[in-house]
Amino acid sequence: MSNDSPLVIALSKGRIFKETLPLLAQAGIEPIDDPETSRKLILDTNQENVKVVIIRATDVPTYVQHGAADVGVAGKDVLMEHGGDGLYEPLDLKIACCRLMVAGPVDAQPVQGRLRIATKFINTTRDYYARKGEQVELIKLYGSMELAPLAGLSDRIVDVVDTGNTLKANGLEPQEHIADISSRLVVNKASLKIKHAAIKRLIADLTAAVNG
Ligand code: ATP
Ligand code: PRP
Repeated sequence: MSNDSPLVIALSKGRIFKETLPLLAQAGIEPIDDPETSRKLILDTNQENVKVVIIRATDVPTYVQHGAADVGVAGKDVLMEHGGDGLYEPLDLKIACCRLMVAGPVDAQPVQGRLRIATKFINTTRDYYARKGEQVELIKLYGSMELAPLAGLSDRIVDVVDTGNTLKANGLEPQEHIADISSRLVVNKASLKIKHAAIKRLIADLTAAVNG
């Protein structure tokens, strides 16, 4: 990685891309293509030295950790689950805000024996119940967690909740709060040294955009 290689920013499609766009614009960075309509995974921007790569939300920490992207934007839920190894997390972008919660059927009866919990946040959920001194059975899912209790797969779920509408529509309710979630700027530690000026400027511009 040479000093004049482009700065690579990892974003995921959808909510994070949409909510990061105005912040990047205030930092003078505007992607040329729209990932909703383009099939391109590497987007050029108005700045020759800045590229945006479009990846799955859960892959952002991995790309940044390995230096395949210099910086990225990821939800705190994803970062907690990943563990944050090799990542510097300098800025809370205060976008995509939600809460990580335990949820279950409305008025659920206490469960005899081990609670079965369906989630894509296996590590975070294991740590949460370990801190409470409770032994639980974890069931790894990749989406549509709300279906699991309805289908008899689990007693509870751990997922992000914003309005609570998805829980409600499926006869579930939030029960325990695990963490407040927002998206963070993450930076590869080696990139921070090698591309120090560019990354320092980006952090300063994004900080001003968040506070403005
Ligand atoms: P993947 O594609 O890897 O499964 P995903 O579908 O969870 O990821 P998004 O739905 O775009 O990706 O969510 C990105 C981030 O936005 C999440 O990590 C979380 O921090 C936040 N988020 C998720 N759902 C909501 C919501 N309903 N309201 C606000 N923020 C949310
Ligand atoms: C997320 C999450 C919940 C839902 C919570 O899903 O997995 O299912 O949002 O949001 P709510 O409390 O406002 O209903 P996803 O990103 O797939 O769906 P979305 O497009 O509804 O955010």
